[in-house]
Amino acid sequence: MMIPILAANAAVPHSSEKFSPTAAVGSRPPIPTGTLYIQGQAQLAGTVPISGAKNSALAILAGTLLTAEPCRIRNLPRLVDVQRMVAILEAMGVQATAEPDGVTVHSADLQGGSAPYDLVSQMRASFFVIGPVLARLGYAQIPLPGGCAIGARPVDLHVKGLQALGADVAIAGGIVEARCRRRDGRLQGASIYLDYPSVGATETLMMAATLAEGETTIENAAQEPEILDLAGLCRAMGAQITGDGTKTLRIQGVPTLHGTDYEILPDRVEAGTFMAAAALCRSVLTLTPVVPQHLGAPIAKLQEIGALVDILDDRTLRVDGRGAGRPTDIETLPYPGFPTDMQAQFMALLTLSEGNSTIQETVFENRMQHVAELCRMGAHIRVKGSVAVVTGVPALSGAPVTATDLRASAALVIAGLAAHGETQMQGLHHLDRGYDRLEEKLRAVGAHLERRP
Ligand code: UD1
Repeated sequence: MMIPILAANAAVPHSSEKFSPTAAVGSRPPIPTGTLYIQGQAQLAGTVPISGAKNSALAILAGTLLTAEPCRIRNLPRLVDVQRMVAILEAMGVQATAEPDGVTVHSADLQGGSAPYDLVSQMRASFFVIGPVLARLGYAQIPLPGGCAIGARPVDLHVKGLQALGADVAIAGGIVEARCRRRDGRLQGASIYLDYPSVGATETLMMAATLAEGETTIENAAQEPEILDLAGLCRAMGAQITGDGTKTLRIQGVPTLHGTDYEILPDRVEAGTFMAAAALCRSVLTLTPVVPQHLGAPIAKLQEIGALVDILDDRTLRVDGRGAGRPTDIETLPYPGFPTDMQAQFMALLTLSEGNSTIQETVFENRMQHVAELCRMGAHIRVKGSVAVVTGVPALSGAPVTATDLRASAALVIAGLAAHGETQMQGLHHLDRGYDRLEEKLRAVGAHLERRP
């Protein structure tokens, strides 16, 4: 079978086109991503709908491989990364059917060795299929992953954990091959300590352990809301998991899991991006649906710089950025610390705060590439090692800029909205990987921005 490949520069359809998570690939010509023209000094007002969480969606799509029965996934964000993940599953023998708000996936005919390099190399999260495939079939062969160029991003914690669960793992020619040691092809429950609370490793190992024989404990597990979401899916499929959202996960393995219907949580990073936009444009935005308790760190930082954040109900919050402008210090950390995925957007925000702010990036070693682009717009930022010192300037000015990674692209968009004049941003394939109709949502609250070839 020919495996259709998504062109690297393919973009999600614009609002007038029908989005399908399954139509991604091969079935229509890619839309050129072009240049985004952003008019500055935007005054934003209104309510922004928040889409399903990208990082949950990718892990949850991998999680559906744990059962041979169909799983319906709802509130799926319209993203190139989601289309790529569905394409990877299809290449592994999965039947995917587009639904109005998501996809139904049926992996009765799952193959353990056919994840396509071209797609896996474009997206790190695709590697996470190794856990469920190995647990279900007893073997898995997955190319080493790619993704944003924000650091080395090894997979040693995934590999060590799978070995502890009773797999032999070999890496040769860029392919990771894992095989269960037990004769019956099942993994064996184990006590695992993660040297670092890696989100992806926690997800890989949690999924793998659901079908292992006996109990698995994962100590120093990641506590991100996306772990709760994936555990929610697995429980809905019949898995026995406790402790998700704490540092210790306990999984009692079961022989098989069943199909389910599951709705993905709202995207806290998308919400955080709009919160930063409201504060940077000294505007007022209401965001819904959100889970306010998943946004504790960004809310605290917005309040420190003088923005007002009101939790209107358990799915809605309002950011009033008219009083923003004080400096603050931010250190990125595993959840519940400040998320690395909001670092670039908050750096853009702090460029217009008075005095000096510092941002320390502790999660990824190469996640400051947006600094040079923000400086092109008149920001004053000095970087030493993993620390950026942002000295506030009175105004940014529009400039030609290039997005270097996913969250950097969002930071440049919101900087462009606040700047004087026009910003022309290239590298839009990064934006399309992870933001669901960002331009449409911004236009609906008063921004002027347009994509042209
Ligand atoms: C996930 C998110 C990503 C987010 C990151 C941290 C998805 C699809 N992506 O990525 O958006 O920025 O969490 O919140 O959910 N590490 C190792 N060895 C490993 C695994 C990770 O050294 O085996 C290191 C990484 O290089 C990095 C740090 O641990 O420096 C954090 O990575 P991790 O939490 O695993 O991030 P991802 O799951 O890749």
